[in-house]
Amino acid sequence: MLNIIILAAGSGKRMQSKIPKVLHTFAGRPMLEYVIESAKNLNPDSITVVLGHEADLVKSCIKNNDLNFVLQESQLGTAHAVMCAIPMISSFDNDDSNTLILYGDVPLVNVRTLRSLLDSCHAGISILTSISDNPYGYGRIIRNEFGDIVQIVEHKEANCEQLAITEVNVGIVAIQTEKLKKWIGIIFNNNEQREYYLTDLVKIAVDDGVIVGSVSPNDSWEVLGINDHIQQANIERIYQYEQAKNYMSKGLTLSDPRRFDVRGSLKFGRDVFIDVGCIFEGVVELGNDVHIGPYCVLRDVTIEKNTRIEAYSHISNSIMESNVAIGPFAKLCKGSYIKSNSKIGNFVEIKNTNFGNNSKASHLSYIGDSNIGSNVNIGAGVVTCNYDGVNKFRTIIEDNAFIGSGSQLIAPIKVGESATIGAGTTLTDDAPADQLTLARVRQKTVVNWKRPKKN
Ligand code: UD1
Ligand code: CA
Repeated sequence: MLNIIILAAGSGKRMQSKIPKVLHTFAGRPMLEYVIESAKNLNPDSITVVLGHEADLVKSCIKNNDLNFVLQESQLGTAHAVMCAIPMISSFDNDDSNTLILYGDVPLVNVRTLRSLLDSCHAGISILTSISDNPYGYGRIIRNEFGDIVQIVEHKEANCEQLAITEVNVGIVAIQTEKLKKWIGIIFNNNEQREYYLTDLVKIAVDDGVIVGSVSPNDSWEVLGINDHIQQANIERIYQYEQAKNYMSKGLTLSDPRRFDVRGSLKFGRDVFIDVGCIFEGVVELGNDVHIGPYCVLRDVTIEKNTRIEAYSHISNSIMESNVAIGPFAKLCKGSYIKSNSKIGNFVEIKNTNFGNNSKASHLSYIGDSNIGSNVNIGAGVVTCNYDGVNKFRTIIEDNAFIGSGSQLIAPIKVGESATIGAGTTLTDDAPADQLTLARVRQKTVVNWKRPKKN
């Protein structure tokens, strides 16, 4: 039987934020979610999350199926937090029930590492430790001359000699449930901070004649904690780099895996290329041979095969079929559906629009709330005027139409099939099929006009 307790009650003073620490994010998700995900991967019988600071907010932000929550009203220390969770833990005397204690602010620990920690707690208790080049802030592991762990000394309580120790306490503990219940009640707060330290379990175990086991992770970054924004940014980069390597091992080409951010899920076909500085959010799917230029931002987007997105394009909630060319500097907003072989060029914004096969808007346009047919050519600087300040209206442009540069189409409006709109037209009425329609003042030349002269 396995119970898991996740400590997440602290406010995270060092974050200097109104948001509780465990809701601070990396790769687009709160750090606590990663810890819960690792916990679930162990298939435990129960997961209990200890909340305190902004408990209701944390609860509402976390997908909480199959979780128990307990409230630690005042944060008196990590042992006190575990104590609050004890009533939620079931165990039967003499069985081999274990409890695993995870920290809400140590989010990268690998499930394999946790399994080996659990396997090593048969004597009663085992802790996760790591050698750190920068042990500042961590509890130090004190071993005797035989190499057995005898104590953990918190950084704040450590003397000079102890501060020089580089083996640190990660915070994660696997312990027989029965022993946890027995020992947790005899931890006192007779230390500098007046806190109940969970780390005192080690000394109590040793005094009880139990040998404390220990396990170290494969990768030292697994055990990094997030206490401030510097550590948060560090974890973000580590996580993104590991994710990038994983995608590359599945066939993705990245021009620089260190300049690549996925804050959601990315699916990709064969021979997909992604240039530097791109950000992928939500659910993004890229078909075979898709090319993404540098510094693009894609959120909830599907792109079919052989489509190219050029530099600095921002695309959200949109679909592009195959062989489409987008950008550079294009913006596609919610509800854009771009059919195959079409082109959305530089400084073109598209919103809530169906854009037909083989059609083009190559330069400097705004196309909103529109239905564009196939083989349509939209000249430079064309604007659909979809909004009267209160309501939005649709623009319909039928197949083979040609919209001259610099035209404005005042919606609701329709341009018929194969119609031509002369450049610079402000179109206020529907334009008939197959005809040239234009609305402009006839050009004149003023004879004998002189430029004003400076007095
Ligand atoms: C803790 C360990 C330290 C270890 C470090 C690793 C103790 C006493 N110290 O120190 O040995 O090296 O983690 O990251 O355990 N929390 C509660 N209730 C409380 C206090 C804390 O739920 O009353 C939660 C926090 O929200 C956090 C976790 O416990 O998720 C750890 O608390 P934190 O204050 O960050 O402990 P550290 O000082 O980092
Ligand atoms: Ca911490």
